[in-house]
Amino acid sequence: MKILQLLLIIGFSFDVSLSSSKWILELGDNFIDVRKDGGYWLVKFYTPWSGQCKRLEPVWAHVVQALKNTHIRVGKVDCSIFPNVGKAFEIITYPTIKLIKAEEEFTFEGEKTTEEIINFAIRLSGPPVQQVTRSESLSNIKNMNQLFFMYVGELEGLLWNTFYDVASKFQAHAFYYSASEEIAMKHVDIHTLPAVFVHKETSHYFYSVGEGNNQIEADHINATMHKWINEERFETFPKITEANINEILRTQKYIVLVVVEENKVFQIPKEMLEFRNTVEALARKKRHVYHDYFQFGWTNSRELANNIAMQIVPLPYLIVLNSSTLHHHVPEDEPMQMTPDAIEMFLKNIIEETVPIYGGNDIAVRIYRTYFKARTTLADRWSGNPVLTTVLLGLPLGFLSFILYSCCCANILDADDDEEEELPHEKKE
Ligand SMILES: *[C@@H]1O[C@H](CO)[C@@H](O)[C@H](O)[C@H]1NC(C)=O
Ligand SMILES: *[C@@H]1O[C@H](CO)[C@@H](O)[C@H](O)[C@H]1NC(C)=O
Repeated sequence: MKILQLLLIIGFSFDVSLSSSKWILELGDNFIDVRKDGGYWLVKFYTPWSGQCKRLEPVWAHVVQALKNTHIRVGKVDCSIFPNVGKAFEIITYPTIKLIKAEEEFTFEGEKTTEEIINFAIRLSGPPVQQVTRSESLSNIKNMNQLFFMYVGELEGLLWNTFYDVASKFQAHAFYYSASEEIAMKHVDIHTLPAVFVHKETSHYFYSVGEGNNQIEADHINATMHKWINEERFETFPKITEANINEILRTQKYIVLVVVEENKVFQIPKEMLEFRNTVEALARKKRHVYHDYFQFGWTNSRELANNIAMQIVPLPYLIVLNSSTLHHHVPEDEPMQMTPDAIEMFLKNIIEETVPIYGGNDIAVRIYRTYFKARTTLADRWSGNPVLTTVLLGLPLGFLSFILYSCCCANILDADDDEEEELPHEKKE
């Protein structure tokens, strides 16, 4: 099993003396004290009635199973019974997953899948940089198809110290390893030492200090390595969700988002898949051209795109989001009609800032976005349970829209008149 293999590679200590039943620990008020005993705890804070918590249950069962017999202890706290524990850990939303060490705690912010949660726990429960001492281990790590960063060379000096610092800071986000020249050379061509590279999918890319800086200062290395690792910690074409988009926005690049439909068994209609593949191929083939400006990705969440575009978007859809201003750009042509050349032209125009700009993050747009979200949510619920919706949302929302309408510039609302007609089609029967 993949996870077990990873644990073995990075030399986890297995504590087999504990029986498995101890691993599905229901924690209570005493946990506030128990944590002081040290060790690593992966804890889920939940309430029994939340739908999101219920959805997490099967995933959590896998997490418990996978981390059984490792030195990470897994527990859960029912915050409806033990509100004090929730308060002590400053839990605001349920479920919240935290990795807790004696004094430190880290909140899980990724997509709540078994793999992501386990990776999060494993990363944080070891040293920031794991040393790889055997060539086979490096082969195994590479075969795991996970993104990782690696330092090659003597474990001393400015580059090493900086790498270690950044790894400590971004420990929750990626795997960091170090290896000797001898081991690394068997896998990667390295021209100068020490070196730092990232392994993504099947390629690797080196960190470089940058030119025109003969005098290599600590500050410069620190700043460029922070920036580089922050930008490189995502795959070339990751799946983007509501959970990870905020992290991805921190790259400070343009986010190129392909929106497609995906059913429950992860099938994407053929034409949409073709369009997605076209953009993905472009991102890979022209990495050297676009990598500095764009982080590509795709999503199956139409809602995410709707909320960015503030309209119900047709699928497939291509939208480019400016991560610093939250403005967005969309091509004039229908995505499926676009050739790779047309897509490139669109991207080039974005870099040159010659395309129309929409949205943004100023107060009027924020208010409108809130209004849009509330309205689409309402439309959704209306189709589910009209009576309840009216009772629960009718009054406050009517009031809210009234306020928004009065304080929001009229043109933003006017501009969207035609969308009103689209809404009924969007209702799920
Ligand atoms: C290194 O750079 C990061 C981000 O640019 C900054 O937050 C941090 O304080 C810097 N560290 C040092 C030691 O200068
Ligand atoms: C976002 O917009 C600002 C202002 O127009 C621009 O300076 C910046 O280059 C754009 N791109 C990114 C990735 O922030």
